[in-house]
Amino acid sequence: MITPGTIEKIMDAARIDEVVGDFVNLKKRGVSLIGLCPFHNEKTPSFNVSVAKGIFKCFGCGKGGNAVSFLMEHEHYTYPEALRYLASKYNIEIEEEKPSPEQQQAMDEKESLFNLSAFAQKYFENQLHETGEGKATGLSYFKERGFTLETIRKFGLGYCRDQWDDFAQTALKQGYKKEHLVRASLCKMKDQMLYDTFRGRVIFPIHNLSGRVLGFGARILSDKTNKPKYINSAESDIYHKSKVLYGIYFARSPMASLDNCYLVEGYTDVISLYQAGIQNVIATSGTALSTEQIKLIRRYTSNVTLLFDSDPAGIKAAFRSIDLILEEGLNVRIVLFPDGEDPDSYARKNRPAVVKEFLEKQTKDFISFKTELLLGEVRDDPIKKAQLIKEIAQTIALIPEPVTRSIYVQKCSDMMEVEEKLLHATINTFRRQKSRKEREKTARTDHSAIQEADIQPAVHDRPGVTESNDSQEKELIRLLLNYPAKEMLFEIENEDQRPEQVKINVAAFILQDIQSDNLVFDNPLCQAIFDVFAEQWETDSFSAQKVFTEHEDEAIRQLAIDLLSNQYVLSKNWEKRHRIYTREEQEDIKPRVLHAVYAFKLKKLERMLADNQQQIREASSEENPSETALGELIKTNRDLLSRRSLFAAELNRVVTR
Ligand code: GTP
Ligand code: MN
Repeated sequence: MITPGTIEKIMDAARIDEVVGDFVNLKKRGVSLIGLCPFHNEKTPSFNVSVAKGIFKCFGCGKGGNAVSFLMEHEHYTYPEALRYLASKYNIEIEEEKPSPEQQQAMDEKESLFNLSAFAQKYFENQLHETGEGKATGLSYFKERGFTLETIRKFGLGYCRDQWDDFAQTALKQGYKKEHLVRASLCKMKDQMLYDTFRGRVIFPIHNLSGRVLGFGARILSDKTNKPKYINSAESDIYHKSKVLYGIYFARSPMASLDNCYLVEGYTDVISLYQAGIQNVIATSGTALSTEQIKLIRRYTSNVTLLFDSDPAGIKAAFRSIDLILEEGLNVRIVLFPDGEDPDSYARKNRPAVVKEFLEKQTKDFISFKTELLLGEVRDDPIKKAQLIKEIAQTIALIPEPVTRSIYVQKCSDMMEVEEKLLHATINTFRRQKSRKEREKTARTDHSAIQEADIQPAVHDRPGVTESNDSQEKELIRLLLNYPAKEMLFEIENEDQRPEQVKINVAAFILQDIQSDNLVFDNPLCQAIFDVFAEQWETDSFSAQKVFTEHEDEAIRQLAIDLLSNQYVLSKNWEKRHRIYTREEQEDIKPRVLHAVYAFKLKKLERMLADNQQQIREASSEENPSETALGELIKTNRDLLSRRSLFAAELNRVVTR
């Protein structure tokens, strides 16, 4: 393991502009550098690099991070690989150290599961090729399905004999632990007896990106039973089904070089297409496509072609996957197979050249796919047609990139004979609805946080504000992260009762103010950042930007990067809405800090008040209301009300000064 000292040296040496500049052409604009984003297609640059903050952020696709995360994303490096790359770029010698006992134990656990899985894979493969039962049933089954020996070896296919505990006994003899056998789903426990999970089934090992076996799929040989056709390893420390794609180990490099991948449903679809010469093929195997899987694909290509059966289930799954893929900013195309065929059966019945041609000819973009599928029943029915247009618009609205969106608008306009302007309007409505919903869900990557921080002075006329957005909290943390050391002037009375000017920096002011009222954040990420700040602010070498943009928690890192990078966007909006702060934000920080603190407190107070009023209602509707309890509640109520009007007045003063 690389020592923390070395990591620090590397992080100190790494300059974001130099690191990114090796891959992206950057030009100076104002205080930051700007270029074309390498993570999505764009013609006008929205990719920002801030040398001072050591971060990059794309306002087009939302990606952001520091030098290390850039390399991990762009070069597909793991964390240690990225560090090693930087160390060699900056001639830093790497010191290594032994992991701590806890780290060691966690690593040992995973490593044991990996080792056991590798052992099991070899065992099953051996059973397939070397035992009588394996050859007679397993191997002949695969051959019947048209898999060549070469293919069978390539994918490491295997067989588990139909014995009670043959694998279990072999593994135990080799020193593997009972608990690990169970945890890796290889064995199950019944009445204190261990038995083999996959017995009597052919085995499809599932590999990770670097080719290590994580788990297994296992198919029953005869379709004529009521047992499940396939069973799969359960989730474990090493196997997370929503993060794995079957075949990715073999497909990743063809995916990158061909800049496309075929996404199919099953193990056998992957294998048959691969054998037919189509190597950029992967499968979700049995689960619905997840966003994590799409992110995995994006490391190699941003083009996905979905291959689906044309039964209603297949079509429904395709619709869902299309939306999910578009939402992640990737391009999606679709091939529908003829009735009753899947990629596996089609590839078995046709020569490779025919399969290739079929895929090329049948590939459709998602609008043509949806339209052709539904237009038949729709053609002469204006109501149904309008519904279809709406559905397509809804899908287009998911695409994050405006240029791509407008290309699809054009296409849809042509196909459906509807005006582009109208489509744009419909799409914008959907996008507004979507972003409203996301804000309500307290999206972590909200760029327009401040719009709700904009509490008008009239707020105290409204009954208890109960909506659960966290924009005030984010605004407070944003100021804390961006300007901790910025000084603000306050006028106080000194001992001689004369006015005296004192300087307080932003961090000290916010920390004291929030802590003295014992207020907590609703958003746990904001609370986490605040806590670290409170704890470390006084230490000499504390750098907020460093601590949080390099934080080990991904969610904290992302929030910090978003809050650190979007001030320009925010302050422009802010000025437009308020017409008050015309100077650069940092030149005029005090009103913003005061505003943020009061808005935050007011929000908390509103909620405390709402709770209090609810308690009063409950207490007074009891049969024998307790006078003292009710009295206490009413006292609290008065107290809260007067604090609220105090804050509201302060807020009002700040906003309208
Ligand atoms: P074959 O019948 O062997 O050609 O399989 P297939 O790949 O055509 O199967 P199908 O299209 O029925 O299913 C696609 C994928 O869904 C499979 O590869 C499995 O990953 C999964 N699957 C199918 N049946 C089952 C099942 O009974 N249980 C589970 N857990 N998964 C299944
Ligand atoms: Mn099949």
